[in-house]
Amino acid sequence: MASTPRAVYSSTSRQGTLTDWQLYRRLLGYVVPYWYIFLLSLAGYMVYSLGNVLLADLMQFLLDSLNDSERAASGIISGLAYRWYDEAGGDRLAFARTAVPIAAVTLASTRALGYFIGSYFMTHVARNLIHELRCELFNKMLVAPSAYYDRHSHGVLISKITFNVDQVTGAATKALTIFVREGMTVLALLLYMLYLNWRLCLVFLAVAPLIALVVTVVGKHFRRYSRRIQASMGDVTQVSNETIGAFREVRIFGGQRQQEGRFRSASDYNRVQSLKLALIDAFSTPVIQTLLAVSLGVLVWFALNPKILAGFSAGSLVAFLTAAGQLGRPIRQLSGIQSVIQRGLAAAEDIFAQLDEEAEIDTGTHVTERARGDISIRHLSFSYPGTEARALEDISLEIPAGRTVALVGPSGSGKTTLVQLLARFYPVSEGEILLDGISIDEYTLANLRDQLAMVSQDVTLFNDTVYHNIAYGSLAEAGQDAVRAATESAYALDFIEQLPQGYDTVLGDDGGGLSGGQRQRIAIARAILKDAPVLILDEATSALDNESEHRIQRALENIMVGRTTIVIAHRLSTVERADQIVVMDRGRIVATGTHGELLQQQGGLYAQLYHQEFAD
Ligand SMILES: Nc1ncnc2c1ncn2[C@@H]1O[C@H](COP(=O)(O)OP(=O)(O)OP(=O)(O)O)[C@@H](O)[C@H]1O
Ligand SMILES: [Mg+2]
Repeated sequence: MASTPRAVYSSTSRQGTLTDWQLYRRLLGYVVPYWYIFLLSLAGYMVYSLGNVLLADLMQFLLDSLNDSERAASGIISGLAYRWYDEAGGDRLAFARTAVPIAAVTLASTRALGYFIGSYFMTHVARNLIHELRCELFNKMLVAPSAYYDRHSHGVLISKITFNVDQVTGAATKALTIFVREGMTVLALLLYMLYLNWRLCLVFLAVAPLIALVVTVVGKHFRRYSRRIQASMGDVTQVSNETIGAFREVRIFGGQRQQEGRFRSASDYNRVQSLKLALIDAFSTPVIQTLLAVSLGVLVWFALNPKILAGFSAGSLVAFLTAAGQLGRPIRQLSGIQSVIQRGLAAAEDIFAQLDEEAEIDTGTHVTERARGDISIRHLSFSYPGTEARALEDISLEIPAGRTVALVGPSGSGKTTLVQLLARFYPVSEGEILLDGISIDEYTLANLRDQLAMVSQDVTLFNDTVYHNIAYGSLAEAGQDAVRAATESAYALDFIEQLPQGYDTVLGDDGGGLSGGQRQRIAIARAILKDAPVLILDEATSALDNESEHRIQRALENIMVGRTTIVIAHRLSTVERADQIVVMDRGRIVATGTHGELLQQQGGLYAQLYHQEFAD
């Protein structure tokens, strides 16, 4: 059944827990390491906005010089310039003819320099912020507990790193730049207007609360729609991801219509929410513009009142009106970035919620060079987080170092769960697991996992060369000879040598280009190379033809020597030689023994499974 986008949206949890202010503060925290660059940028923008004001002020100089007014020297720039004015000359126009162009060019170039410094360094800070945030988010995924991956769909997680971080980028770069630059310009212009005539300025400011109201109301809507857009992007990624990964299943089972429908509804939800956002965005800017125009009209009406006019020179009146007129652009820009900021904040909120997720519990301190491999499981019961049903119930099992134990049992009986707990993929709450007599919780996670090599139920290969897939992670330094030896023991050498570039052949996504058996042998080579004291093979030999199975069987026999091995296999023929066979059913151990002993238990589960297999 196609899930409705709304249901998907409501499934993304923990929204709206932080206030705007907390969000800003937390984002600003990322700026702290770059505070000096940030200050440099602020200084640049300050120069830029002062430049804007002084260019308005220059109008006064020009106009009052034209009509040779007594007040020609009353402005900021003209005041400064008149210090060089030669009283004897007396011709203001001649003075202005040199002074105004010089002032204009100096101002404009200083303002340009300010703009450059402000915008480059602000982007510098913003880009670093994004980089840090993205890496932190990614690193969180490296330490997130397994339950995290059970809870979130993988497409949604990917969309967090791609789409959400991108949204913050918009807010941090464009919006931050505009916010600082235009904000300072507005401030500087208002201060200048206050300085010229504070009463008139207050008239103009009367409209400010109205603008603030529009901005706030609109902002709230922006945020709501942004969250929905974000969730729908997660959904779009999820459906795409699934369809790409399962393109064969989709075709064989005629799932195109269904996938298309799911994608269409996710994308459509995104479209509708984006349009709503655009509607408010397109609505708010003209409203603010109109408010500004009205206040400018009122301003002129008041300014041309003879009483007020008397306090002004023609030049300062024009300078005042120029400044007021100049306010329109930055205010429009400021209200225009609302949607970008709100989208960024909605994304930041979600990212922070991810960052606040608990990491895997790693409180143990015990470290061993190389464990012997004694495993003992005592009264272990376990339910997956968020579920009621017991996946394991009162499991007790002793595996002496160097032995091979086979876990068998029907599907869903808890075999994979048991070995996952051994690697501490989930915390154990009831009972305990000991390695060499020490609870696995007391080991550091890294050290515990150093003791384990695993070939898991579904082999995962990386989009890298064959060589690096075998010498992966901590095995990267193993050296060519060791890699070759491991490959040989895994019976993988022959097919690797037949690949076009041998070890240097780059495998496609998840080992694309290899057969199932070949992929397994690469995974086994990886496990052999690790040479860990405990080896776990989860159904490493299922779904193979006899020839491959035979080879893998021999490969496994090579590596079982001298280490504790836990094999999970559906084919009983592959476990006959184990020292001990553990039969599991519905989370419990129902029998243990050797192959011969178990067969003798008439009517036992093992005998049943065994005869079934023969019948097949
Ligand atoms: N991530 C999970 N979250 C919740 N329940 C799970 C999870 N993984 C497995 N289970 C449940 O735990 C039980 C045991 O599953 P497990 O994968 O251990 O079975 P298994 O013996 O390995 O089966 P198979 O032979 O099919 O691989 C099953 O009932 C399954 O539904
Ligand atoms: Mg399993």
